[in-house]
Amino acid sequence: MVRSFSLAATPRVIFGSGMITRLPESAVHYGNNVLLTTGKSSFIQSEHWDKLLLQFESSKIHWQHFTIGSEPTPSMIDTCVRKFSSQQVDVVVAIGGGSVVDAGKAISAMLCHQGSVKDYLEGVGTRQPSRLKVPFIAVPTTSGTGSEATKNAVISEVGINGFKKSLRHDHYVPDIALIDPLLTLNCPETVTAQSGMDAFTQLLESYVSGNANPFTDAIAVEGLRHVRDGLLTAVKNGSDLLSREKMSLAALFSGMTLANAGLGTVHGFASSIGGFYDIPHGAICAGLMAPVNNMTIGKLRKKDKSHPGLRKYARAGKLFSENKHASDPYYTDLLMDLIVEYSHELNICGLSKFGVKEKDFGKIVSKTGNKNNPVALDSDELTEILKSAF
Ligand SMILES: [Fe+2]
Repeated sequence: MVRSFSLAATPRVIFGSGMITRLPESAVHYGNNVLLTTGKSSFIQSEHWDKLLLQFESSKIHWQHFTIGSEPTPSMIDTCVRKFSSQQVDVVVAIGGGSVVDAGKAISAMLCHQGSVKDYLEGVGTRQPSRLKVPFIAVPTTSGTGSEATKNAVISEVGINGFKKSLRHDHYVPDIALIDPLLTLNCPETVTAQSGMDAFTQLLESYVSGNANPFTDAIAVEGLRHVRDGLLTAVKNGSDLLSREKMSLAALFSGMTLANAGLGTVHGFASSIGGFYDIPHGAICAGLMAPVNNMTIGKLRKKDKSHPGLRKYARAGKLFSENKHASDPYYTDLLMDLIVEYSHELNICGLSKFGVKEKDFGKIVSKTGNKNNPVALDSDELTEILKSAF
């Protein structure tokens, strides 16, 4: 019997190399006043920026610009909303990495809300966000978070009482996700590696999640195939468009699967560590992917060798194997070896390189949730994971 499930809304997706030229006609559908959100440099220093502005001019689009220099904080969002709330904004367009897309998503919502975005964050504020928002178009320039397909914007405030939490509403799924892999060609090697490992993590975590369904399984498997075929080449040879296209698809699919099946303990750590330290989300996921999955598989094997999560790990491993007639444990071990191999190949740094301190492990563990991990890991196991990722 197939388990009952429901699917979250997806954006209208416009995908393909060169599709950035479709942005003006997509934006003008909502009106002529566009609030553009971008990062501080990469995109606005690229040839695409000048071309886009020329197109805006010929389409009689009035645009205003707000830049995001790091992962979005409440004060960044509030500053932007204060600046533009008295002006006509028909559509918010975010062009950039996951941080920029998350920022644009939050700005589009907060332009229709009173107070600070902090008041509406899950686990932080006390107010519930309404469905109201300004139409929003997401244009990713990295392949990682999948935020172009999700209903939440991650906002963080780093520090001793720091947090990394979501502004979430079903209605905040972008109206349009315009995904042009040409825009990712300028993405630096380190960011490509970290964001690619984030997409890989999201696909694997949502695939083995107890909340997965036949739809998310199909998309996750396809996404994992694109990671297999695209990730290493996209990092080593960033100008290879085909591998960039594969990673753009992998990221999009990871957003669709995580929005429905949820994530696991790697992202539990990403939330807690990301609140205490200013470390890129992709770097945390990349550094923790191997130890978390190793611990999860070890525990599942001890607990119940026929656990459906183990079957899923084996199926995922088989995608990466040329041997099509081996046992499930063989494929599961192969997947774990491969994740470690990827971490080495992609020069993924240990957490200590980012300033994580051993004395903070207790604090991190106390704030780490297992989300939809196939098995809950306890405090000792979470501490063990931090030691090996250190
Ligand atoms: Fe992620």
